[in-house]
Amino acid sequence: MALEVRVCEPGGFGDAAADALLEAASGVRAPVVGLATGNTPLALYDALARRVQQGEAAVSAWRPFAIDEYGGARGHPCSNRSYFARHWDSIPGARPVLQFEPQAADPAAEAARFRAALAAAGGLDVVLLGIGRNGHFAFNEPGSARDSVTRLADLAPETRAAASACWGELTPRSGYTLGLGEILAARRVVLLADGHAKAAIVARALAGPIGPECPASFLREHPAAVVVLDVAAAAGLRSGSAQAGGIAVPGDFPPADGGGHP
Ligand code: PGA
Repeated sequence: MALEVRVCEPGGFGDAAADALLEAASGVRAPVVGLATGNTPLALYDALARRVQQGEAAVSAWRPFAIDEYGGARGHPCSNRSYFARHWDSIPGARPVLQFEPQAADPAAEAARFRAALAAAGGLDVVLLGIGRNGHFAFNEPGSARDSVTRLADLAPETRAAASACWGELTPRSGYTLGLGEILAARRVVLLADGHAKAAIVARALAGPIGPECPASFLREHPAAVVVLDVAAAAGLRSGSAQAGGIAVPGDFPPADGGGHP
């Protein structure tokens, strides 16, 4: 099975996500790991930090790359740079994340610099992804080409609306992102989604048509992807539609309780 869907136990999202990411990174001596930000992976980074502190896991050999960055002020508290400072750099032994420079004078040159750095590292071994409510991966908004590369991209209205909760009136209009081509070239992919708000787009991505209208749908063409869901985010996969999309979904997960994440 090229794409594996895991539905975690209530309260187990961070550990299930950490299991998937550690598995994906295992077997490579110094894996190049693309890292997502956002609300979804917070429990994962907490679980990773705990496991590293307890000596159960290590990330010190990982070569981390940001997968995107807002086109706002460098180091703004809502930037991905600040997020990594809070949630990644606090993991014992974690190497600094290679990041975009959002205020580079020449965005095309900045994108080329980042792209070249990733290529020099050998490309992504593993990429950790969240999914936007519109089906985006990183800032590859609907309409992004399957073979798109690192670039400064316009943010979709839904993405700006979500970002405005933190950025307010300074919400950026654009952001740097790895392209779908570079993301889907990763040897292993781990996609996370939790909460009711993601149920519809998870069902669309895993069981709807594959195409640029829902960039996350391209995951189904990847040879080694794992999707980690909580019960709420998996709710749209109950009808058998996922099986229609060729995806095996565990059939015995409990009903959503309506609680948890929004
Ligand atoms: P979220 O963002 O984890 O904050 O929901 C996911 C995304 O937009 O990719």
